[in-house]
Parts: sequence; structure tokens; C-alpha cells
Amino acid sequence: MSVSRAILPALVVRPMTLDDLDEVLDIERASFIAPWTPDLFVAEFGNPRSVKRVVTVGENGPVIGYVIFWIVLDEAHLMNVAVDEAFKRKGAAKLMLQKMIDECAGRGVRYVTLEVRKSNEAAIELYLRFGFKMVGLRKNYYVHEHEDAIMMELEIS
Ligand SMILES: CC(C)(COP(=O)(O)OP(=O)(O)OC[C@H]1O[C@@H](n2cnc3c(N)ncnc32)[C@H](O)[C@@H]1OP(=O)(O)O)[C@@H](O)C(=O)NCCC(=O)NCCS
Repeated sequence: MSVSRAILPALVVRPMTLDDLDEVLDIERASFIAPWTPDLFVAEFGNPRSVKRVVTVGENGPVIGYVIFWIVLDEAHLMNVAVDEAFKRKGAAKLMLQKMIDECAGRGVRYVTLEVRKSNEAAIELYLRFGFKMVGLRKNYYVHEHEDAIMMELEIS
């Protein structure tokens, strides 16, 4: 489906609920070679460190993306972020990451860290846009595909 930015209602970011899981899992499975299982998502709801947000089209529209990050003291780690293929490149990830950074700043977080596949140009470009810096490499982090992970970090001033 192709949706032009001109007719797309405003994107809304709100907390993820268990009712969102079916839609989230559809996006997850379409987005990753090794998707998180339903159990992994459910476990996030019992984890007090975990912050989970979805982005929807309009207030009550479909879920088109999600972000999960953990806040531990003054550090946050981006665990998962994905956007529905049909809604890519419309600013959904940008909106979610901006909200994540704002929330982190408001909670006294100083650093946001993440790992990203070396081949994931779209995500790397997105993180660079937000000022994340490449700070290291985890060799063979994605064992099945023998792919390295780039470690990235954003210092929140
Ligand atoms: C990475 C991902 C989350 C981006 O979502 P998105 O909603 O399409 O991104 P946005 O529209 O907010 O794009 C914001 C910026 O990111 C960069 N970007 C996004 N997709 C890109 C692409 N395919 N190629 C190059 N840069 C890209 C651009 O700088 C873009 O700004 P612009 O559109 O003004 O040029 C999405 O491609 C995705 O779900 N990928 C699969 C899951 C994944 O890899 N997650 C990251 C795991 S570390």
C-alpha cells in the first residue's frame, strides 16, 4: 500500500499495551530475520526498566511502528524499533526516537546506547541523524548470519 504524506493523518505516539501485540508482532516478523517471539514482548510488560511505545496513524488508527527501550539509572538502551513497510520513510521512526530522547532527557538519562547490524544502512542513517556516534564493533554479534554489530551511543546534553 502506498500512502502519501499529504493524506496521512497525524502520527501519534502512545504507550504500547498488550492489545497491540498482534499488530506489533506482524511488523516484527516482517522486519527482522530473527524476530522477537511473543514471549519476549510479553516479558517486557513485566520489566519495570522497559519503556514501550507504539506509533499509530491518528488517535485510534492502526499501529504502524513501535519502539522499546530500557532505562537503567542514567543510561538507556534501545532494544527494538521497527516500522511497517507500507509506512516507511514517513517520519514514524523519527517521531518515536525524538519522543524516546525527550523522555530520556526528562528522566535524567545521559547516554542512549544501541547495537545495529553493520549492513542496516537505513537504521544507521536514522541514528546518525539524531547525533548517535559509532563507538565500537561487536564481532559476530548476529551469530546466525555471521554479522557484526556496530555499537552506537548518543550523549544527551
Ligand atoms: C530503520 C527504520 C525503523 C526507519 O523507519 P522509518 O519510519 O522509515 O524512518 P523515518 O521515515 O522516520 O526516517 C528518518 C530518517 O532516517 C533515515 N532513513 C530512514 N530510512 C532510510 C533508508 N531506507 N535509507 C537511508 N536513510 C534512511 C533518513 O535520514 C530519514 O530521514 P529522511 O526521510 O528525511 O531522509 C525502518 O526502516 C525499519 O523498520 N527497518 C526494519 C527494522 C530495523 O532495522 N530496525 C532497526 C534495528 S537496529
